[in-house]
Amino acid sequence: MSSVKFQELEEAIELSRDYARLQDYSLAIEEMIRAKGVIQGVLTSKRLKKSSTRRWQSMLKNAEEEIETLKRLEHNHQVELSQLALKESKMNEDAAGIYSKENAQPVREKIRNLDTQNKHPRNIKWKPPSRYDDTQISKSKQRKKGNKIKYSKHAKEKGHPDVELITSIEQDIINDCGDTSWDKIADLDDAKQILQEAVVLPMFMPDFFKGIRRPWRGVLMFGPPGTGKTLLAKAVAAECNTCFFNVSASTLSSKFRGESEKMVRILFEMARFHAPSTIFFDEVDSLAGSRGGPNEHEASRRVKTELMVQMDGIAGNTSTSTKTEYVIVLGATNCPWDLDEAIRRRFEKRIYIPLPSNDGRRKLLQLNLRETEVDAQVNYGELGNITSGYSGADIANVTRDAAMMSVRRVMKRAKEKGLGGNSLLQYIEENSLSLQSAVTQDDLSQAVQKVGKSVSKKDLNKYREWMDEFGST
Ligand SMILES: Nc1ncnc2c1ncn2[C@@H]1O[C@H](COP(=O)(O)OP(=O)(O)OP(=O)(O)O)[C@@H](O)[C@H]1O
Ligand SMILES: [Mg+2]
Repeated sequence: MSSVKFQELEEAIELSRDYARLQDYSLAIEEMIRAKGVIQGVLTSKRLKKSSTRRWQSMLKNAEEEIETLKRLEHNHQVELSQLALKESKMNEDAAGIYSKENAQPVREKIRNLDTQNKHPRNIKWKPPSRYDDTQISKSKQRKKGNKIKYSKHAKEKGHPDVELITSIEQDIINDCGDTSWDKIADLDDAKQILQEAVVLPMFMPDFFKGIRRPWRGVLMFGPPGTGKTLLAKAVAAECNTCFFNVSASTLSSKFRGESEKMVRILFEMARFHAPSTIFFDEVDSLAGSRGGPNEHEASRRVKTELMVQMDGIAGNTSTSTKTEYVIVLGATNCPWDLDEAIRRRFEKRIYIPLPSNDGRRKLLQLNLRETEVDAQVNYGELGNITSGYSGADIANVTRDAAMMSVRRVMKRAKEKGLGGNSLLQYIEENSLSLQSAVTQDDLSQAVQKVGKSVSKKDLNKYREWMDEFGST
């Protein structure tokens, strides 16, 4: 399927669920019908592979079922509205009219305004229910108000021995939503698409990703430093709108020293409780390096074993249970060869995050300079050429350095005049306009010379070799 269709399908489903959550069922139905249309289009396409037909047919069935459920919910909602109208009419008979079925629109507007006073509907934290029923909707309402059911509370009620640890994980690691989005990440289209298929979609369509189509239990992003791996994980977190556990090796080793192994276990327990959810291990190599090395500590060995056991556990859950307990482990590393091989095997999907392409570098420059005034003569194409081999982070440094050039120029002139102290401050004030002058091509070229690239050719070859041996696309 083309990525455009894929995007349209995903968008329609997402919008439908957003509208359903806002109890605007007629729009939710409309969007789900659009999704159904896309699926039907794919099914009639001559290019559809035979092996995929059943998958699409079952998706069509899912969409049709959702339309029926939404219709039922719309009906219930209308009944609710008219009951509300009855109540109101007792107080003010004239007002009753606005709640009638024909005039439901203003009421909808009202509900929507309430819900979107501060946020765009698509940004509202919402766990998409796989089946819409009233309990799930009220659960999502609770989430929105910030009083979502906490695992710590649940654990306390159950007499869990590690409530303190759980509370502390809750404070440090749970991150439902960030503000990074796919379009703030330049290039990396393949990686984005794989992440969408492997992590984002299963969260939205849990019923579809079952049995043989169960999601990968682990997805590993590897590649040179500064290429956007952490950024991609943040975008996944924002996109999924589900529970996202952001674990870095430093949190594990400092905060939970000596308890890392227990913490891994509890982390997975919590993730299952909040499922569907994603656990992100940044710099996973420092947590899960090869076992049996000369410097390996007994404790770190136990952490790895626990991690393996837990990752096997989630696979078991998704394939057998009827209840959907999706927990996907996402890892990032720039030393994939240091990973323990048993852990490597558990990351079933391994995605290479390369240095940006020529086009990507151009986009990165534009992206980084979007909030700065830039001279109209700046030639991004040429800058893209001369930054060959630079990583995304290098390019971010180039633009920051270039943006500082105007300040340096003013300071240099002041120095030539021998100014200091108050007279320097006065000079800077008088020249505040030159401080804010636009970034020029010259500034950028100079910055490129100064910053230099951080990834060597030798390293790149090492990544490619590892990619050929263990990677997947
Ligand atoms: N594709 C990209 N789009 C936008 N910004 C990028 C991209 N790649 C890198 N950057 C910039 O580089 C910075 C570092 O990116 P990030 O932290 O995601 O790298 P990383 O791959 O996780 O590196 P490391 O392996 O060292 O942890 C980001 O803050 C961002 O400014
Ligand atoms: Mg990183």
